Amino acid sequence: MPHKTLTRLPGLADVHVHLRVPGGEHKEDFSTGTAAAVAGGFTTVLAMPNTTPPLTTCETLHIVQQQARAEALCDVHFYAGASPDHLDELPALARETVGLKIYANQTYGPLRIDNLATLLRCFQTWSHGKPIAMHAEGRTIAVGIGLAAAFEQRVHFCHISRADEIALIAAAKARGLPVTCEVTPHHLFLTEADAARLGPFGDMRPRLATSADVDALWAHINATIDCIATDHAPHTRAEKLEPKRGSDAPPGVPGLETALPLLLTAVAEGRLTLTRLTELMAHNPRRIFGLPEQPETWIEVDLDAAYTLSDEGLHTKCGWSPFSRIAVRGKVERVTLYGALIFEDGALIHSTKRTRS
Ligand code: DOR
Ligand code: ZN
Ligand code: ZN
Repeated sequence: MPHKTLTRLPGLADVHVHLRVPGGEHKEDFSTGTAAAVAGGFTTVLAMPNTTPPLTTCETLHIVQQQARAEALCDVHFYAGASPDHLDELPALARETVGLKIYANQTYGPLRIDNLATLLRCFQTWSHGKPIAMHAEGRTIAVGIGLAAAFEQRVHFCHISRADEIALIAAAKARGLPVTCEVTPHHLFLTEADAARLGPFGDMRPRLATSADVDALWAHINATIDCIATDHAPHTRAEKLEPKRGSDAPPGVPGLETALPLLLTAVAEGRLTLTRLTELMAHNPRRIFGLPEQPETWIEVDLDAAYTLSDEGLHTKCGWSPFSRIAVRGKVERVTLYGALIFEDGALIHSTKRTRS
């Protein structure tokens, strides 16, 4: 067999993942979600709070933290969820989470804050040392920028997807305002034409955009964009194909296992450098969210491996990907976490517990 040359990169950190615990374990759980993370080259993931019940109280947070410690195959940190009913819990939640998530537009799950009075209370109450992550689309982003400026509070904008949105964030940054942002692989590699082709399997919030929007995101890849985050949002095939009576199919697509191959393909095509990829997928996420170092942790990738993405062999419980049948170049070969080899030849190596704490 010809000798493969492997390139070592730091363990990646994904700041936007839906692991579905508690309440959505038929879509994903800590074991399957972190298996997908590791297979995708991520050794740290930040879990979103739009669960059932949502992560808006210390009581629920403590239950999932304990469960993650028992089941997760890589490090999992949590966001607190903002809810008008539990604002009094925010100071305590701030001590044990990486940030506060505010859903300022309608999306999947019960969390939603759309009135100014509640937004103000969130910004007044949240510990200013940690970022507030916002699901904000369109002009709601201007609201988030205004709050960041007024309260001198760091705001991290999730999944920016449109030309006008990224232009607004670039302007805010040029002013020195404390804002950061992430983009997802689906908004970098798919357009509304793919949404038409994929049907419910290409539906998420924000929706896929035009090719001009995609071009605008790429034009900001070396400047305005701080992180690539997957917004891994698994739903079962059945939920996508047969929504409950009277409701639409739930929005969201998985992304943990396809992000790095897609971005490595862009590196092979000269659309960004490997150094920039490492900033976007490892260093910036860790810096923005103050994530702990992971000693003796790295991944090894084969930059030359050319193959086709497939639903076959995915570790995510949902078992499908909007990127299946897309040709890529670049593969995760091995993952080492805290000195132990935990992934090789497409498979997790399970034995003793190896994550932090
Ligand atoms: O498409 C989405 N799905 N967007 C979100 O903001 C939430 C997510 C989910 O939890 O399924
Ligand atoms: Zn969102
Ligand atoms: Zn999300």
